[in-house]
Amino acid sequence: MQYGYFDEKAREYVITNPDTPAPWANYLGSPDYGAIVTVNAGGYSFVKSGAAGRILRYTFNQFDEPGRYIYLRDEETGDFWSASWKPVAKPLDTYKSECHHGTSYTEIISEYNGIRSRVLYYVPMGATHEVWRVNLENLTDRERKISVFGYCEFTTESLYTQDLVNMQYTQFITKTEFHDSFILEQINEFNYPRPDGTTGRERFFGLAGAKVASYTGRREQFLGRNRFDKPQAVADGKCDNSLNYNGNPCGALQFSAALKPGEKTTAAFLLGQKTVFEAKEIMDRYDRTAEIVDRELAELISYWHGELANLKICTPDKNFDTMVNTWNAFQCFITFIWSRAASLVYCGERNGYGYRDTVQDIQGIMHLDPELARKQLTFMLSAQVHHGAGLPLVKFTHNAGHEDTPEQESYVKATGHPSYRADDALWLFPTVYKYVAETGNTDYLDEEIPFADKDVGTVREHLKRAINFSMTHLGPHGMPAGLHADWNDCLVLGSQGESTFVAFQLYYALNIMKEFCENEPDYVKYLDETAEKLLKILNEKCFEGDRFIRGFREDGVVIGSKKDNEANMWLNPQSWAVISRGATAEQAEAILNTACEKLNTPYGLELMQPSYRYEYFEGARMRLFNPGTKENGGIFCQPQGWAILAEALCGHGNRAFQYFKESSPVSFNDDADRRVIEPYVHGQFIEGHESPFAGRSHVHWLTGTASTVMVGCVEGILGLRPTTAGIEISPAIPQEWNGFTMEKVFRGKKLHITVDNSAHKEGKPTKVILNGVERAAGVILADELREENDITVVM
Ligand code: GLC
Repeated sequence: MQYGYFDEKAREYVITNPDTPAPWANYLGSPDYGAIVTVNAGGYSFVKSGAAGRILRYTFNQFDEPGRYIYLRDEETGDFWSASWKPVAKPLDTYKSECHHGTSYTEIISEYNGIRSRVLYYVPMGATHEVWRVNLENLTDRERKISVFGYCEFTTESLYTQDLVNMQYTQFITKTEFHDSFILEQINEFNYPRPDGTTGRERFFGLAGAKVASYTGRREQFLGRNRFDKPQAVADGKCDNSLNYNGNPCGALQFSAALKPGEKTTAAFLLGQKTVFEAKEIMDRYDRTAEIVDRELAELISYWHGELANLKICTPDKNFDTMVNTWNAFQCFITFIWSRAASLVYCGERNGYGYRDTVQDIQGIMHLDPELARKQLTFMLSAQVHHGAGLPLVKFTHNAGHEDTPEQESYVKATGHPSYRADDALWLFPTVYKYVAETGNTDYLDEEIPFADKDVGTVREHLKRAINFSMTHLGPHGMPAGLHADWNDCLVLGSQGESTFVAFQLYYALNIMKEFCENEPDYVKYLDETAEKLLKILNEKCFEGDRFIRGFREDGVVIGSKKDNEANMWLNPQSWAVISRGATAEQAEAILNTACEKLNTPYGLELMQPSYRYEYFEGARMRLFNPGTKENGGIFCQPQGWAILAEALCGHGNRAFQYFKESSPVSFNDDADRRVIEPYVHGQFIEGHESPFAGRSHVHWLTGTASTVMVGCVEGILGLRPTTAGIEISPAIPQEWNGFTMEKVFRGKKLHITVDNSAHKEGKPTKVILNGVERAAGVILADELREENDITVVM
């Protein structure tokens, strides 16, 4: 079944049936002030930390409640409904609803009983408060009197677990106050008040553009003995102007609107963690409500649409376009900014950036905003320990040069990470390369950046130490040891086990470094010899003719051999053999074919097969998951991006695109009940063929899938491959396409690219026409480019 559609022009996903299989969500603001809002206005807000800075209460994994609720009541009949379909949930044959999830704003438009409401939720650019604009329109030909009630449920304590479970304490620390236009929640009011009497823990919920007719700061009064679908105060037509002292604080404000036929009115509820003085100041700013809201919305749209503007594609497949142009790109920005901070699945307890996750997330926005990417990249380089490894978790409070490390008890206690992972710092190589290639800024390699614990070094030095870390942690065959994990969190190979995946990552890194260290012949020689040796080991010890094995256990036993009964074929060693350029053309054909044959399903490629059931080993922690789930034979979505890229690098456009389609959220738009989560964002994994729910996806929004699939599409299928010298455009597309166009900004120059596929090929273009001059396909040098360029790529 279909619940909505993509409005590509507005860059919105429009939900027309709000009874979605899961709370389909959107992201507002940033982790400085973050808000998650769902199709039925459920969700929560926080300041700085989803877990430790929570200001709105939300019950995870339940009924998508509470939320940012707006109730409307017909004063004549007493009938009431909500501006989002739920919580009141009027029958859908009498209630029309459209939820427009846009780039950092959500507008819910409903029509019931002759009244149209438009509620817009957003956090203004750079602000740390949120706005719920309510616009009402009388669609009937008689005057209507409508009461509007805004409701938010405050937490009693910023630590959300305290709020939910330590009630013998948290129920007795808050009270609310009323200040003309807003409710103020006080927490531990007399604990260390500042000279002006404030604590910094206050939250406000206010009404701008209308007069408060009644209020309450007590949830018990607002709801009475009912739930959110029938709040007593709304049924009664007013709140009792009571305030909270102990118990559950809330903000509930009523206003009345008398609307002539066709008349409209606008007001706004405002919310944030602010002192009474700050709240008053914000309230005053919204006196000309409609005008200010329009301006703030326009600012948000112009910022976000600007961020997405550096690449615009137009292909024969509109679904592909909408993902590349808008939704996958927007998701990349969200994962880049939010990391794994907060969602409806992540409660906000990860108090830092995962090393590999973040360095991968950076890749997802490289083609759109490389300078923003660089800032985070520099930060991540500063979280490399002096010996080259990445800190498994980089604290939000990271203080480069002064950090403790997994060697120290204090770090382990604070982060829960007892040791290093084999892959973390190796992700830096493709990410640094992509930055330098996208911008041409080779000076970056000479920029000095501190290490996490001690020392300072250039970016080049950081990368050298990363290689050194891998080279000083080799296993018995001379391949990188698996340590606490490689990319696969569930594969614990230790210091004696070895990972083929990491070996290919290292091989790739060594080759990238050759380009970065051209002026150091001795080091290049070392890199060459090391790479050659590593590839030899990979070929001699890890290649089985139709596949690369996954690695070796601590006791030397092979993982992922075709002789095994379980887990005998793994996806990542195959895709990475190709991405690293370690596989020969012949090997690449063979291993990618095996991957397709043994792992592919209608919803993408499974991570490995068959899932572990009986024949696992100690380090194979994925056995804890049901077969066909997550790392245990599920369709892990991040590796789909690598599979797309690997196929595309081989010129296999048909298969690259097939893989894109199989697992892409948009492909499920008309089969949304199967996928369950949002059809506009990637999830972490899809259940595989061994699950009775094959095709169901989980862990929405914050996942490395966003960036790998983006890279798979942009560098792979579209073939936009910046190099240090310039850019190569080498699409790998479905044979049946006649061609397509792309508008790309590259190093400040505009590229108008037309791909001509009248030859109906699937990859490996033959020639390029640059500004009227024909040449063989290959890299276009940066200094050949003018301000505006017409480029035709002939397949
Ligand atoms: C999750 C983790 C990521 C890991 C992956 C595979 O997505 O966030 O770090 O690489 O699982 O285990």
